[in-house]
Amino acid sequence: MRPYVIINIAGSIDGKISDSARRQIRISDEDDLRRVDRLRAFSDGIMVGIGTVLSDDPSLTVKSKSLRYFRKIMGLEENPVRIVVDSRCRIPPDSTVLTHGEGKRILAVSERADKKKIKMLREKYPSLRIITAGNARVDFGVLMEKLWKAGIGKLLVEGGGEINYSLLQLGLVDEIRCFIGNIVIGGRDAPTMVDGDGFIDDFPEFGLSDIRRTEKGVILIWKKNP
Ligand SMILES: NC(=O)c1ccc[n+]([C@@H]2O[C@H](COP(=O)([O-])OP(=O)(O)OC[C@H]3O[C@@H](n4cnc5c(N)ncnc54)[C@H](OP(=O)(O)O)[C@@H]3O)[C@@H](O)[C@H]2O)c1
Repeated sequence: MRPYVIINIAGSIDGKISDSARRQIRISDEDDLRRVDRLRAFSDGIMVGIGTVLSDDPSLTVKSKSLRYFRKIMGLEENPVRIVVDSRCRIPPDSTVLTHGEGKRILAVSERADKKKIKMLREKYPSLRIITAGNARVDFGVLMEKLWKAGIGKLLVEGGGEINYSLLQLGLVDEIRCFIGNIVIGGRDAPTMVDGDGFIDDFPEFGLSDIRRTEKGVILIWKKNP
């Protein structure tokens, strides 16, 4: 068994999610930011790759006070479980995702991870759960099973392109929700919604389930089984 996996991502008109310097770019409009916040609040877990943590230093918290309050009265923690996929344990110890906001955190590493760094993180953050899955890179098959057992039924993946590719390659994605904003970023080295090695012939297919116009862009919801 595994969680229901939703990839959510914001791209420019030309499909880029950041610029060539991998700096965080504001692509979403206000409508989209509110939609993503609701999506976070109704998820059990939020996952990102270490590339996103190193570039953007996100908190991955629920921003709306009323949504946090709603989670509280439902008997939940203010924020879903936040999960960082980080084979080598490169996460900076003072990353915002570790220091900011209430709720559990999981660091998913592989056998390659620096054992001293893991020990230091365990001492600094006693509640941080560290899951080892895979030898070189994090094995998503193993990780998904462990997340399911940890009570994560609905998992929101918030990038980046490398993580998205690996999940799609393994057939582990049930939905892709993307916001296409009103800017062009360009640049052959700028990350896109799905990077990795790319697909050859066997392209993953999704059915268009919903399309919504916002102030400055459009939200598309694609489902594996619409
Ligand atoms: N616009 C948006 O919505 C949005 C959202 C998120 C991110 N971004 C942008 O995306 C960029 C970061 O994306 P990214 O693609 O570089 O990084 P990423 O997907 O966040 O993380 C990739 C890293 O995860 C680790 N990893 C561990 N196991 C893996 C596996 N099985 N498959 C793939 N990766 C695995 C690898 O590093 P190790 O081998 O060291 O573990 C890999 O380099 C930034 O520029 C950020 O601003 C944009």
